[in-house]
Amino acid sequence: MKIRHLLIISVLGITLFTAKEHISSRVDATTGEDSFDKAIKEEMLINNEKSLKDDEELLKDKNQSNNKTDVKVEDKASFGRDNNASDSINKDAGGVTPADTTSLNSPLVLVNKHISLPSNYKPEDLVVPNVSFSFSGPHEKQNMRSKAAKALEELFNAADKEGMTLYAVSGFRSYSRQESVYNGHVQSLGAEEADKISAKPGHSEHQTGLAMDITSRSAGMTLSESFGDTPEGIWVAENAHKFGFIIRYQKGKEDLTGYSYEPWHLRYVGIDAATEIMEADITLENYLEKKSM
Ligand code: DAL
Ligand code: ZN
Repeated sequence: MKIRHLLIISVLGITLFTAKEHISSRVDATTGEDSFDKAIKEEMLINNEKSLKDDEELLKDKNQSNNKTDVKVEDKASFGRDNNASDSINKDAGGVTPADTTSLNSPLVLVNKHISLPSNYKPEDLVVPNVSFSFSGPHEKQNMRSKAAKALEELFNAADKEGMTLYAVSGFRSYSRQESVYNGHVQSLGAEEADKISAKPGHSEHQTGLAMDITSRSAGMTLSESFGDTPEGIWVAENAHKFGFIIRYQKGKEDLTGYSYEPWHLRYVGIDAATEIMEADITLENYLEKKSM
C-alpha cells in the first residue's frame, strides 16, 4: 500500500474516532440518551464540571417489599425522634411534630446524610406524572408519590404557560438503584467527591418518591449547575414553592445540606413549608428545627 493511501486511511480513522468521542459525550436533546453508550448505560447526563452520572447506571431492581414505616436516625444531629406514624402525605405543615419528620407518610420526612430510610422502603402510591421526560420511558425513575406527581404536573404546566419547557429526569429510586448510582460515582470520582453529589443508599430523597430532578433544553438536557442560570432554572427557583417544591440543595448552603448546589433537585414538602423555606432562604433542616421548637 502506498504511503499516500496509508495517510488517507489514518486521517479517516482519526476523524471517525474524534466524531464518535464527540457524539458519545453528548446527550440527545430529545431522548436524553447517549447514542453510543445506550447499550451499556441507560442515559448519561454530563455535568459541565464533573461527569455526573446521576442515576444512570443500569441495574435490575430487586423488587424489594415495603414493610417498615420509620426512618433510621444514625446520629442525634438535629431533631428529637418519635417514630410514630403520622398522617398521610396530604398533611399540611403548620406546627411540625417529630413524627412529621420521621414518618414516611409525611411530606416533611427528613432524609439526609445522618438520617436514612429502611432499605426495603418503597412508597405504595407511586405514579408517573403526566409531564415531559428527558428520556424515553417507561422507567421506574419516572415515578413520584401521587401528591408530589400532581404538584409536579401543575408546576410544569405553569412553566409552560410562561414559555418555559421543563423536562423531568429522575424521580423515584429504589435503595438498590441508589447503591448502584453511588458506587458508580465513587468509581469515577473517588469517595470524597462522590459524597458531595450523591447520597449513600438509604440516604437519598429519591427513595422517598418526593424528589424529581429536572432540566431544560437551555441547560443542554443535563443536570448541571448551569440550569440554575437558565430562564427555566430561574423561573423554577422563583416559583416552585407555589406548587409545594423546594430547591433542596442550595448554593451557599453546602455545609448545611452536605451536598453541592443542585438547582435541578426538587423536593416536595407541601405549599406552606415550601413557601416558608423559600421566603426565609433556609434549608429543610433549618425549617424543621425552627418549627419543632
Ligand atoms: N444527588 C442527591 C444528593 C442524591 O443522590 O440523592
Ligand atoms: Zn436529585
